[in-house]
Amino acid sequence: MNRVHEEGPRLPLDSESIKGLRTRIIGNIVNFHSLVGSTDELAKDIALSGGEEGTVVVSNKQTEGMGRSGRRWESSEGGLYLSVVLRPNTGREEVSILPLISSLALSKAISTTYLIETSVKWPNDVLIGGKKTAGILTQTSMKDDEMEYVIIGMGINVNNPIKELPHDIRRKSTSLSEATGKDQDRGELLRNLLTFLDLHYQGFLQGGGPQLLEEWSDRCETIGRAVRIQMIDDTIRGSALGIDETGALMVKQGLDIIRITSDDCIHLR
Ligand code: BTN
Repeated sequence: MNRVHEEGPRLPLDSESIKGLRTRIIGNIVNFHSLVGSTDELAKDIALSGGEEGTVVVSNKQTEGMGRSGRRWESSEGGLYLSVVLRPNTGREEVSILPLISSLALSKAISTTYLIETSVKWPNDVLIGGKKTAGILTQTSMKDDEMEYVIIGMGINVNNPIKELPHDIRRKSTSLSEATGKDQDRGELLRNLLTFLDLHYQGFLQGGGPQLLEEWSDRCETIGRAVRIQMIDDTIRGSALGIDETGALMVKQGLDIIRITSDDCIHLR
């Protein structure tokens, strides 16, 4: 008898959830957890102890989920929280586009899995109907001028209740269950995500970055809009023209064109 794997919308995923996954690099090893501090921290330990490129850490819940610019990432049960260990043989400059490529993969995976329109917001959020449903945190480590590892951490609001998010974040956020009106299968999303990530990472390694950035720009809702960018010691108001080959945002402010990297940006509105 064929047993169909059924997952609870808020129960931990396990290896059954990604049965049949066929990828080259990303997802050859996937560690599933029900509760961790942060999947990024576990992935970093794996990277530092010589773990294999493409290793993925997934958790059902995080107590110390980390977001961009030192913010906290609320990570209650029912969301999908994962980190991927990468070891690209490139310099620091080249890897600056990896977060954008990852958000492209995530946006495609969500659209493919749930047949729903998604867009990306610079630098690497995924939106549904203008509201954030997923975010990405990238951490890079160099050793003696060589790339040691890159950790791509992704947090996706799937079946976790949006009402548990802090008030200021809640009104700009959504989840897959809220957007589609029912709890959703996270195993299928994880399979599709690892598949798109693997495909695009291979494309990146083979010099396909510029084409992937074009695809990213086509899905981007920031380009062509008026933006306000909060930086550590300045605020830029202008019109977003596009991204350059490193993934930095080009903003026209008066007669000036300003180049903003994701490290400079605390908030974009
Ligand atoms: C953002 O601020 O938009 C980025 C959020 C990234 C959250 C993910 S959840 C999995 C991984 N582990 C963490 O502690 N953070 C990232």
